[in-house]
Amino acid sequence: MAKSKLSTVQLQLITVSMALAAAAATTTTHLRFYMHDIVTATAESPATGVRVARGTTPLPGDPGTPARFGDMHVIDDPLTEGPDAASPAVGRAQGFYPFADQQQLAVIFSLNIVFTAGKHNGSYLVVNGKDAFFDEVRELAVIGGAGRFRGATGYALLRTHYFNSTTKNAVVKIDMYLHV
Ligand SMILES: *[C@@H]1O[C@H](CO)[C@@H](O)[C@H](O)[C@H]1NC(C)=O
Ligand SMILES: *[C@@H]1O[C@H](CO)[C@@H](O)[C@H](O)[C@H]1NC(C)=O
Repeated sequence: MAKSKLSTVQLQLITVSMALAAAAATTTTHLRFYMHDIVTATAESPATGVRVARGTTPLPGDPGTPARFGDMHVIDDPLTEGPDAASPAVGRAQGFYPFADQQQLAVIFSLNIVFTAGKHNGSYLVVNGKDAFFDEVRELAVIGGAGRFRGATGYALLRTHYFNSTTKNAVVKIDMYLHV
């Protein structure tokens, strides 16, 4: 009886030490930056996103010229430390997003977050997920990375900081929480 009680305590100690070891092995890194998606070129800045295919059915709830189900965009958007496009560069968001929901204004983001400055310069993160961009907060998955971010996992929270319904230009705040 006493022997089996001791075993239970020992098992609990092993479980606790395993959990502590797992916690020590991964650290959570928080990164915050802003993505500038310029669909319509302005005097100050050239377009950084281009629609490469036109879809079929106009989607509800999109002011101005509505996006269509099946629209496909390719982007190479600047990422900066702050919401101002003139703030220090962090990297580029390079990838594509089709409007892949027939009912809702939403895209599937498939992005490489390529760092071009600081200690992460030359490394990148791979992000994929649904962005219903009129929702206040959108969660996307960080499914991998390269360089300093090899084997990274985590998630990204996207919040629209600025959106112009005429030009469709947007500034998106991105918070990333990573296990690296
Ligand atoms: C980032 O790395 C590239 C390649 O090594 C280098 O040319 C560039 O100067 C670096 N940029 C910054 C801001 O450190
Ligand atoms: C949206 O962009 C148009 C065209 O550049 C500009 O005239 C308008 O002031 C902008 N609206 C907002 C809310 O920034």
